This record gives sequence, C-alpha cells and structure tokens, in this order.
Amino acid sequence: MIENKLINLKKKGFLKLDNVDLDVLNLLGKKIKLAFDRALKLVNEQDLTNEKLNHFIKRVDRGSLDLNCLSDSENLSLDLIKNLEIIEIAKEYWNSKKIKYSRSHSKFRHVDPLNNKQTKYSPLHYDGTFLNHNNSINICIPFTGYGGDYPGLQIFPESKNFFKKKIIQKTQRFSFVNYFVNSFNPIVEKGSYICFNQNVYHRRTIQNCKKTRVNLEFRIFPEYTNDKNLDLDFI
Ligand SMILES: [Fe+2]
Repeated sequence: MIENKLINLKKKGFLKLDNVDLDVLNLLGKKIKLAFDRALKLVNEQDLTNEKLNHFIKRVDRGSLDLNCLSDSENLSLDLIKNLEIIEIAKEYWNSKKIKYSRSHSKFRHVDPLNNKQTKYSPLHYDGTFLNHNNSINICIPFTGYGGDYPGLQIFPESKNFFKKKIIQKTQRFSFVNYFVNSFNPIVEKGSYICFNQNVYHRRTIQNCKKTRVNLEFRIFPEYTNDKNLDLDFI
C-alpha cells in the first residue's frame, strides 16, 4: 500500500490521503474556529493587544494564525499529525529515520471567499522560494471541507522539465494556458488531507464557493535539515 503512494509522491510531488483521527480533528477544529472568530472581531476593533492572534490581525489577506496561537494548539496538532500515514511515507521518501516539523512555517489558515481582503491573495507559487529550498512536505488538513464549496487549491504536478515549468508559470497571466497543462483541484472531505512538496506549483482557488475554509498547514522536513528560520523540532 505505502509503496504505491511513495511512487506517486516521487512522481507527482503530491498525494491525497485519509484516516485523520476525527476526535482530535473536531476538538482542535472547534478551538481554532473560535480563535479565528475572536481574531476577526479584533480586526474590526483594530485591537492588537492579543499578541497570539496578531499574525492574522496584521494581515487578514494571508489568513493565518500561528501553530501556538492557543496554549494547547501545537500539542493537539502533533497528536493529529504523528499517526498519519504521510509520516511513514516521508521517512521512506527522504530515507530519514526521524521527521522534524517547523513551528514558524506551520499555520492555521482561514479563507473566507466572501471577504475581498482574502480573495486577492492567491498568487501562483511554489513553497521552496520561502523555505530556502529545503526538502519539505506541506500537510494540509481541513477542519471544514477543502475545494468544491470551499476555497481550495489548484495543484500542478511536479515537473523537472524546464519548459513545462515555464508553461505553468504562464498560467498566472494567461488563463487559457491552463488547458495545456495538467492540474488538479482536489476536493478534500473532513478526515482526508493533501500533502505536497516544496517544488509543486499551486494557488488558492475561490471561484464558485461561498463557504469559509479552515485548515491546518503543517510542514515537515527530513531529520538532516538544520535551518534556524524554520524553528525545527522532532515530531
Ligand atoms: Fe503555498
């Protein structure tokens, strides 16, 4: 089973998996939704006194809260992550006995398709640019749905072909180019998640959806990664 998924990850750079622990997911999801509600209220009042929520309040377009925005949010996230299949797959993928995670580059995300501050933030990119091109996997776990009625992602499978990469970059300015490259808009139900590496081009999609998406974005790295900017620890 794991073999096929590993082959897919090596080939395309991304995977959709399932079997998230729903008890932990619901518990953490409830707390995080309340934290975003509180943060949105503080945005209206332009109140920056709650430091743990300022990552969101200062840049609503980005829509994110820190992993430790609540006293137990980091620990609950680790509870959620450590039993996921992707952790075992990642060990094989990187030939790494242990896996690290980044505190500074793991976030909770809130995307309201009706909030025009958030709809403008959807540039095409790959995460390697701000991760110093370290090997990494972004694990995206929705507390709501993801894609379909909810904001999602358009994902372009990894390509080592220089010209293919150039064509993908053109989709930002010329939407018709989308017809010439393979891309996916995964619909991820609660209990499932998507993972992709730092070379995969992607962008936020908000067309035809009305519901607010809330999710965890958790970044993992092989044990040999040493980068102070990432604030790394073992899982
Ligand atoms: Fe990204």
